[in-house]
Amino acid sequence: MNELLITNAQLATLASLSRPRVGEEMRDLAVQKNAALLIRDGIIVETGSPAAVQAKTSREAAVIDANGRVVMPGFVDAHTHPVFAGSREDEYEMRATGLTYQDIAARGGGILSTVRKTRAASEEELFEMALPRVRWFLEHGTTTIEAKSGYGLTLDDELKILRVIKRLNDETPLDLIPTFLGAHEIPPEYRGSPDDYVKLVVEEMLPQVAIEGLARYCDVFCESHVFSAAQTRRVLKRASELGFGIRIHAEQLSLSGGAEAAAEFGAATADHLEWIDGAGIEALRSSGVAAVLLPGAVFNLGLSRYPPAREMIDAGLALAIATDFNPGSSPTPSMQMVLSIACSQMRLTPAEAITAATINAAHSLGIGSRVGSIESGKQADLVLFDCTDFRQIPYFFGVNHARLVIKSGEIVVDRAEHR
Ligand code: NIG
Ligand code: FE
Repeated sequence: MNELLITNAQLATLASLSRPRVGEEMRDLAVQKNAALLIRDGIIVETGSPAAVQAKTSREAAVIDANGRVVMPGFVDAHTHPVFAGSREDEYEMRATGLTYQDIAARGGGILSTVRKTRAASEEELFEMALPRVRWFLEHGTTTIEAKSGYGLTLDDELKILRVIKRLNDETPLDLIPTFLGAHEIPPEYRGSPDDYVKLVVEEMLPQVAIEGLARYCDVFCESHVFSAAQTRRVLKRASELGFGIRIHAEQLSLSGGAEAAAEFGAATADHLEWIDGAGIEALRSSGVAAVLLPGAVFNLGLSRYPPAREMIDAGLALAIATDFNPGSSPTPSMQMVLSIACSQMRLTPAEAITAATINAAHSLGIGSRVGSIESGKQADLVLFDCTDFRQIPYFFGVNHARLVIKSGEIVVDRAEHR
């Protein structure tokens, strides 16, 4: 028996609902002050008053005194692209001189420049390159990520990336939920015949990914000059038939019809949504599609149009926020930074942003009964922040406040010695 007792904590539990929080509920973190928490064999056993929790604790338990600091569920990052070769600081600099993300893509840069390097890399090399990124996630308090393929764009290269995601999940403390994103960009060899590439995704890639059981979700980048709404529907139809859940890059750079397609196919999520309109929000609401907002991409691309998060909350959408970690639009692994951008630019309150980054993100991935809140019976994925009020996490922005990160009851990051 392996026990860990945390005492003297301010627990932001996010407990007590078995569905995502919507509307006003997003402002309630179900905080327990002066609380204790007991973990046994990786599972949360009890939280609440110190006396009640200590009564259940054995003498052998290891004890951590939180000293009145904030303890929260580990972040669930519901949208990332963590497996790729190379980096794109050259494009970052080009944007500073006035080129846009689309200008750079039209010149053969952007996603395709990462595709060239990723195709050239071996599975082992990609695994080694991804390991420090996994550390970054954990060190910033993220204990689960959704992870997309999408920088291979051939059957073999997409499978290679998905196998790396599986290995990262199996061999590191981070939990990774895999998504197949073969429809991320039209590869150079299909530039003249994009429909033939869609055919390859539908007829060869999706079935093989299904046979090998390498992805739980399928995603498409629905955008003008990438995949049209009609092409997106072809991919989603086959993906649904094969039993994949659906997530979709929708309305990121223009209003392209992705939200309606997501609604039509009963997608788990529609992501980005900077350009969504009222009809799109209503379509998501009426079909129960969760919205995953990625304000780090807007911030990093130097754009000014953020998704209408307040309208979405008012409409009752289940809202999540995520990093969109990738080498082009959003190279940050920090959910804390995303909280800051969400609060200052989309006017989420700190509590709403934290809800969107934990329990709602977990529900968007179908794992809300296991992670995303601090409740007895759940996996002990927790973060102790060096903060005396949860609002300090986004408020002191650009600081990594995570002091101790616990994954399934094990301490996987201990930054106390750096302070
Ligand atoms: O979510 N929009 C498409 N995919 C990524 C960007 C990928 C890249 O630039 O490498 C995104 O922003
Ligand atoms: Fe993305």
